[in-house]
Amino acid sequence: MKDLFGKALLDYQNGNYTEDIITSTNISEEDELPLPYLFRSFKDMPKLEQKALKLTKGKVLDVGCGAGSHSLYLQEKGFKVKAIDISKGAIEVTKQRGVLHAEVKHILNETETFDTILLLMNGTGIFQELTQVSKYLKHLKSLLQTNGHILIDSSDIKYMYEDEDGGFWMDMNSTYYGELDYFLSYKGEDENPMKWLYLDFEKLQLACETVGLKCELIAEGDHFDYLARLIPA
Ligand SMILES: C[S@@+](CC[C@H](N)C(=O)[O-])C[C@H]1O[C@@H](n2cnc3c(N)ncnc32)[C@H](O)[C@@H]1O
Repeated sequence: MKDLFGKALLDYQNGNYTEDIITSTNISEEDELPLPYLFRSFKDMPKLEQKALKLTKGKVLDVGCGAGSHSLYLQEKGFKVKAIDISKGAIEVTKQRGVLHAEVKHILNETETFDTILLLMNGTGIFQELTQVSKYLKHLKSLLQTNGHILIDSSDIKYMYEDEDGGFWMDMNSTYYGELDYFLSYKGEDENPMKWLYLDFEKLQLACETVGLKCELIAEGDHFDYLARLIPA
């Protein structure tokens, strides 16, 4: 990983904001990811993220914290928060913004336990592929304290395969339609391609059942997105 995402966050944090990150996927054209969005305050967050922050309790783990916007908000509200990310640049920015406990760490290497585990901005993305979902869910479950919960958002991206006549062009024999190849570039450099998983609610619920988690639909957004709460069954 070249950590272009972290480099972009550091540029923004250090006042060197000249351009946005460009993303694309195997099923979609190039799109801009505006850097200011990653530094959003509570009032600029989508309703589903605001809802997740309102449901937060106890000691918190913010998984894939990015620039640390959710952690910062919660810390300011008095919560004890740990922010983790695999991006060195992201963690540097999160620390510079004032989050006291931020570490470069892959979620599968986390061992502490928490009352709330947050995975936000398509939190299922880090699972990468459908075949890996139960491994990640089992691990997340092992990090829960008694009465703890996991708050995770994602989208059903079936709409991305809809053509003008309302038909769907996805190949039903191929892999799950939410498994995408994700490409990112910044300032003319290309990041190594990544896998990124969008999981519809029913698939998440099924996966949860197999690992002894109860999956509750908390809220739906305006565009096939949703927030779910997972608790031990
Ligand atoms: C879409 S960004 C979301 C950032 C932040 N949560 C937000 O809402 O602004 C996803 C983040 O997850 C991080 N990430 C990806 N895989 C991860 C893993 N296995 N463990 C921890 N962080 C991961 C990425 O580096 C990136 O910062």
